[in-house]
Amino acid sequence: MNSTAKLLILLTSFLCLFLLITLFKFLHKYWWIPLRIQYALSLQGIKGPPYEFIHGNNKASVQFRKEALNKPMAALTHDIFPRVLPQFYSWTNIYGTQAQLVISEPELVKKVLKNIEGSFPKKKAEGFIYKLLGDGLLTTEGEKWARHRKLANHAFHGESLKSMNPAIIAAVETMLEKWKGQEGKEIEVFEQFRLLTSEVISRTAFGSCYLEGEKIFQMLTKLSILATRNLYKSRIPGISKIRKTTDEIESEKLAKGIHECVMEMIKKREEKIVTGEADSFRSDFLGLLVNAFHDSDDKNRLSLEDLVDECKTFYFVGQEMTKSLLTWTVLLLSIHSDWQEKARREVIEVFGDKNPHSEGISKLKTMNLIIYETLRLYPPVFAISRKVARDVQLGKLIIPVNMEIMIPIIALHHDPQLWGDDVHLFKPERFAEGIAKATKYNTAAFSPFSLGPRSCVGMGFANTETKIALSMILQRYTITLSPAYIHAPFPQFMLQPQHGLQVMLHSLQSDA
Ligand code: HEM
Repeated sequence: MNSTAKLLILLTSFLCLFLLITLFKFLHKYWWIPLRIQYALSLQGIKGPPYEFIHGNNKASVQFRKEALNKPMAALTHDIFPRVLPQFYSWTNIYGTQAQLVISEPELVKKVLKNIEGSFPKKKAEGFIYKLLGDGLLTTEGEKWARHRKLANHAFHGESLKSMNPAIIAAVETMLEKWKGQEGKEIEVFEQFRLLTSEVISRTAFGSCYLEGEKIFQMLTKLSILATRNLYKSRIPGISKIRKTTDEIESEKLAKGIHECVMEMIKKREEKIVTGEADSFRSDFLGLLVNAFHDSDDKNRLSLEDLVDECKTFYFVGQEMTKSLLTWTVLLLSIHSDWQEKARREVIEVFGDKNPHSEGISKLKTMNLIIYETLRLYPPVFAISRKVARDVQLGKLIIPVNMEIMIPIIALHHDPQLWGDDVHLFKPERFAEGIAKATKYNTAAFSPFSLGPRSCVGMGFANTETKIALSMILQRYTITLSPAYIHAPFPQFMLQPQHGLQVMLHSLQSDA
């Protein structure tokens, strides 16, 4: 045999080995693991929808979602779980609430979210979600998470949080200035709150303004739409390296565009030091990040990629969630004029006609009840997912490694067994004696900001922003719902009104 033939045989053998390993990995992931999980659970009496090769239950999920979202909602009901997560609603009814893929039992939810032994980490962000958030605080794990969390805690708690009030007030004033002359007319507030919350996160975390970050916001929104659209679409693994879909091509362009814009923003902050315009990177969130990027200690230093990913995460999450909370609160207040009046009386008692201040914000008890009840009925984050890192006992069951766990927060918040028969009614008074009493001491039954170490780092910030904005609106206007409003809560990353929120503003001054 000559040397060329030998080489050919060697190459062919390598190729065959490579193909065999790839096939093995593929079958392990898409055939062996799902069937092993299904078998392990069926031995323990847990049934679920059958697994379909590669697609899992994605096709069924898409169909459920399509049907639910195309159906108009009956008037103004708050019974929205079947619309927002229709697949879980149906499967829970068919297979029982103990189905382990979907956990809606508060004690088990607490165990998963507290993650004391590290058995329930977050799923690694992939595909569209990775392009949107990268490996930032929301998605990352381990030592990197702990370091980044420390930075974010510093930027969004305590004195730092208090020092943000003037910037939040200024942003609300800008919005209200535009509302002047709109009295007695219809106004769509979901878009107004998008601009407001974008302005607030830009000013407080990044020391800039909405207009400077406008391109980033627009591209992130487009990416989030693509991410939601592709959430339940499965692709044969590796195929996107050969043939990309239009959405994949578009998402790559967007991710590149966002990266460039964020880099420009970082460079601007650095240039201020070089030109002597500033003597530090400042103490806002961006300043802390840039500082960590320049840290002389390798252990603390942030990579450029990490820096960009954190900016993306906070630009996106920092406005999306509060926008949702503000919108649903205004909807509920526009329907429940008695609670609107109670909230207004409290605001006037605490602030008069002056701007909100930190000391007063903590005295807004009625507003707190209203915000809790809104978060219960319309949780911006309506579901949380985790994976199982090792075979682990959860309640009476052994959950196999690699299984994904879904916690539909909205199901917990709408469960009559946990809240009583009035579960779908807006009754802020249920929280009058605290969360523990309202949830019959099942505190995990109310988890709008999640629980445990991975709970929301922006909770205080979102609460403050919401209270300031609502106070300033209520000081000036009575709000009623416009007949044009169509009730259609829509799961687009967070819970949003599909057709916006149209309300009528009535000036208090002219009413007096
Ligand atoms: C009403 C408003 C908000 C709600 C309901 C909310 C809810 C949540 C929930 C449920 C989680 C846990 C997600 C999970 O475990 O998968 C979370 C995490 C997080 N939130 Fe919020 N959030 C809100 C506002 C904000 C704001 C304004 C910011 C930024 C300033 C923010 C930043 C984050 C970050 C970075 C995480 C990840 C924390 C970690 O894993 O350590 N959130 N949020």
